[in-house]
Amino acid sequence: MPRQPITQKKIAEHVQRLGELYPPISLDSVDRTIKNPQAVADRYGHVIDYLARVELEVDRNVLELLCLLPDVDDTNKTFYADVWQPQEIQHGLILDRLQQDLGRQPAEPHLDVSFKIKILGALANLKPIQDVAKLLYFLTGASTERQAVLAYNQINSGMRELGESAISETIISPIKQQEPGHFAFYQMSATAMIQDKVLRPWQVFLTRVLREKSYNLVGTNAMDRYRADMGGVVVQLGLDSDLEGYAREVGRVETRLLWANEQGMEFPPYILRALRESVELYQERLGHTGRFATA
Ligand SMILES: [Fe+2]
Ligand SMILES: [Fe+2]
Repeated sequence: MPRQPITQKKIAEHVQRLGELYPPISLDSVDRTIKNPQAVADRYGHVIDYLARVELEVDRNVLELLCLLPDVDDTNKTFYADVWQPQEIQHGLILDRLQQDLGRQPAEPHLDVSFKIKILGALANLKPIQDVAKLLYFLTGASTERQAVLAYNQINSGMRELGESAISETIISPIKQQEPGHFAFYQMSATAMIQDKVLRPWQVFLTRVLREKSYNLVGTNAMDRYRADMGGVVVQLGLDSDLEGYAREVGRVETRLLWANEQGMEFPPYILRALRESVELYQERLGHTGRFATA
């Protein structure tokens, strides 16, 4: 069945609906009951630390967006200013308080815009490069939001298994409800760019090259210490038993949009490479500190 074309109007309506349906979650709406903090910390402490930091880094993501898309349009502006940033920052604050309730350290978000982004941002003053940056930005959004959806799904079932109904019902479920709308926004925006042939073939080629060279899993900020942390998240969520299946899920949008001509490509190889590398860095770190995963 052919896909319905995605119009800018459809995307704008989606953004408006998200704003109406999902007001930012307030800290007061959270029930802070934790039945067994030690059990929660043992199973998910590291994952919650990681997600709290990444959610709090939304403020840097907004700066990156302004750098990459100096001519940002109204729909994108409404999305990041009225929907995305206000929702994500609450996710971060709520998870940061949860991690402290579990006896862990507060998150330390990394808020510096990287040199690479600044360079790409400077080049993005040229319209053809800005379009490339825009597609990269949407693909990154789709991939990272998809990772968030998958992580919150796993955590939610885990919390229910642990009998932590307050965490599941008043923290993870409400957060989890907001992520698919973010994913859909990026997915629709990237799809519309390809479908409307906004990019010339050389620009699509450049996007592929840059994507391959700069792909990063959510929250790794192209730094090995965060890559190792992400490896720990993958392991703690039990996703390491099927990295290929996870790469397929996370890479679905870009496989379809960027690599459709590659016969039989299930997912872009750079995604699986990034996952393997993260898990290896995590295991290496465990080896060095003499600690081993028990789960
Ligand atoms: Fe979030
Ligand atoms: Fe999100």
